[in-house]
Amino acid sequence: MSISTITPQEAAALVQHGDTIGVGGFGPAGAPKCITPEIARRARAEHAAGRPFKVSVVTGASIGASCDGELAAADAIDRRFPFSVNAEIRKAYNEGRVRYMDLNLSDNAAHLRQGTTGHIDWGILEAVEVEDFGDRSRIYLTAGIGIAPTICRLARKGIFIERNSWHSTKIIGMHDIYEIEDHPFRTPVRITQPIERIGLPYIEIDTRRITGVYDCHVPDEGRPMTAPTPVTDAIGAHMADFLVWNIKQGYLPSHTLTLQSGVGSGANAVLGALGRSKEVPNFNIYTEVLQEAPLHLMLEGRVATASTGALTISSEHLQELYANMNEYRGRLLLRPSEISNCPEVIARLGICSLNTAIEVDLYGHVNSTKIGGTRMMNGVGGSADFTCNAMLSTFTCGSTTKDGRISSIVPFCSHVDHTEHYVDAIVTEYGVADLRGKCAMEKAEAVVAIAHPDYRPLLQEYLRLAAKGGGHTHHLLPAAFAMHDTFRRKGDMRLTDWSEYVID
Ligand code: COA
Repeated sequence: MSISTITPQEAAALVQHGDTIGVGGFGPAGAPKCITPEIARRARAEHAAGRPFKVSVVTGASIGASCDGELAAADAIDRRFPFSVNAEIRKAYNEGRVRYMDLNLSDNAAHLRQGTTGHIDWGILEAVEVEDFGDRSRIYLTAGIGIAPTICRLARKGIFIERNSWHSTKIIGMHDIYEIEDHPFRTPVRITQPIERIGLPYIEIDTRRITGVYDCHVPDEGRPMTAPTPVTDAIGAHMADFLVWNIKQGYLPSHTLTLQSGVGSGANAVLGALGRSKEVPNFNIYTEVLQEAPLHLMLEGRVATASTGALTISSEHLQELYANMNEYRGRLLLRPSEISNCPEVIARLGICSLNTAIEVDLYGHVNSTKIGGTRMMNGVGGSADFTCNAMLSTFTCGSTTKDGRISSIVPFCSHVDHTEHYVDAIVTEYGVADLRGKCAMEKAEAVVAIAHPDYRPLLQEYLRLAAKGGGHTHHLLPAAFAMHDTFRRKGDMRLTDWSEYVID
């Protein structure tokens, strides 16, 4: 049989209210861009006719504005998981219009296969090529994989493929597609080097499951990163010194340093600074997203090999990468998110994880997801996958944000994604708090030392007041969120007056 073609309008017309769409790609690399805006248009038309129309959306991680943005703006999303970065959908979560389930990325595909997070009706994928071999077909993906293999396995009504000629077929061969077996038949994921192959360069699928292919030519939706700042440069320099010190102490291997780097401009800038350091040896990367800085470092030879779930770079940089593909061949692999974030592999490779925090507290807990404890930013993504399993788990953040009115270091995190038991070190522009081998009160001393000077006396005063209550970990619970509360009431954490919160 041969594969049919389909238009985005025809595909959208097949999707029904209450369906779940599984969207390929990751962050927003390799996400489809033509059919989801048509689903949004369909939703608007249905709403105008007085009929309900909402779909649930499951992806590998964040996807582009043409899906999250368009569907959220059309009020067409019921439930969404596991991660997103789009501002429009973030607004919808925080206004309670979309039910958002924030999930560790490594768990997502397995939960879907188990059925605990529901089923998938339609798969929507982007491919650079689809080869039709009669009963079987091969789908060659583009710049991000996410959970595309699992979507292909589970989509019960059908699969739409956007064959996007904007991507270069030179990317064929860069993917390593592998799905983990379900329990109790799970076997080891035998990756012992970042770019060791364990799977196929394509998804193989029963051709009858492909509802239709749409040929298009649309740029990827990655955006340029914010330029490094003196703060991110200082954080990068401290991180470089810290890694070098760990190598000198024999805590980290020098010849096989493998790093993971988180999402966002901060993480990109820190990795750039590590690359510039004369003392940090050349390193490998095993990560879920590869941003701009590490790809440049690959061209310079500073990064030897890299395994990633996605190439989350601007469309200009992606074309540049396609033009220089020979430089990357054999050194770069793209993997599904359950492999890029696989706890077993992260632990085996002895990875140093470098993730970004929203806030950290005196005892080393980290909030990666919720502003002020209540407003969703993006989600936990893969930060917990890496933090819980890395050999060295670090978090970076500027010591303050919002022109100094908010301290990133607080007595108690307003939401906890990563507990003190997994966080080894915190780095701000004022230095490194190495939390390893320290008791709670020693951790607090180390964390205060890297707070902004405006906030150190406030944090020290909190500790002095909290000490009166004694215990192993000093806290004065009525005042533990005083800095957050002061920001809420007065717009500046520096105005915190502990006497307003001290009850006895
Ligand atoms: N209180 C209030 N606002 C805060 C804040 C705090 N403690 N910390 C940060 N913010 C605000 C910033 O002011 C900024 O606001 P703006 O958009 O209005 O300018 C916004 O949050 C983003 O901060 P920024 O420093 O620009 O973030 P970033 O691009 O470096 O990303 C995270 C940082 C934490 C949001 C991002 O790394 C993330 O989503 N992490 C979770 C997922 C993850 O770690 N994945 C990687 C695993 S592989």
